[in-house]
Amino acid sequence: MAFLFNSDAERAKIFAAAFARELPALPFVTNPAEIDPAQVKYLITWTAPADIDRYRNLEILFSIGAGVDQFSLAALPQKVKLVRMVEDGITRMMQEYVTLGVLALHRDLTGYLQQQRAGKWASRPIHQAPDRQVGVLGLGNLGLAVLERLRPFGFPLRGWSRSPRQLDGVACYHGEEQLPAFLAGTDILVCLLPLTAETRGILNADLFRMLPQGAGLVHAGRGQQLDTEALIEALDSGHLSGAVLDVTDPEPLPSDHPLWHHPGIILTPHIASVTQPETAAHTVIANIRRHEAGLDPVGLVDRGRGY
Ligand code: GLV
Repeated sequence: MAFLFNSDAERAKIFAAAFARELPALPFVTNPAEIDPAQVKYLITWTAPADIDRYRNLEILFSIGAGVDQFSLAALPQKVKLVRMVEDGITRMMQEYVTLGVLALHRDLTGYLQQQRAGKWASRPIHQAPDRQVGVLGLGNLGLAVLERLRPFGFPLRGWSRSPRQLDGVACYHGEEQLPAFLAGTDILVCLLPLTAETRGILNADLFRMLPQGAGLVHAGRGQQLDTEALIEALDSGHLSGAVLDVTDPEPLPSDHPLWHHPGIILTPHIASVTQPETAAHTVIANIRRHEAGLDPVGLVDRGRGY
């Protein structure tokens, strides 16, 4: 029985070295054509192979990324455990990106970039961090890590999750019922939600209306969560002041899409956070050890929730 690594060659080299060191008895294969699918016990990949049915002894399907929305849970046999990538590299990069986005909005970078293009030297209204509530949608590993990173700046912090959470120094809200109260006090909204049937299209006109006048958005969840037209309308009407987007629908974004050139938007091509092979290999090896000791892997997807 083997481990099949189905991703880029660069990362494969780093994974192979870590596996040779840590799990030398487990054959490590990088080319699916070189192995009988029935021999694959562990598979790491971004998308499921078309012939997933032939992997009949598969025990764990590891996503190479943090998200698992690209897999069809219905097509995966019940006995296969699907595991999200929870690793320090992804976490650190997401902390950096969200901090970048929050500070860009807090310090009105979109406004200053417009002024720069116009050759205009002028200061814009100033807000202090203690007067700006930063609210994070999604309190998983990434949401929590981001809140920790933002704390030293002095922003009052709030978070919203599907089920109740209690966090020191973070005003926590949960469930659909508390979403309006969470939004009403959020000046900079950060979306780190997983994509599920419940979160698809969640960043829409109704939600934007519930945010205070002048609020900003940092979106590093999934493109399908955002109603682009509603965002553009909210920016054009002045209700929202700016948005930092790392994800779009579709990706890549077509060259004639209005998001590219909107002055209130800073756009990056889904680079907020990328799996780092050194730390990821360590996580996957630790998860294989947990699994073989009869424990659930870290990042195990709850099929009912979809993440
Ligand atoms: C990126 O979006 C990931 O899921 O890792």
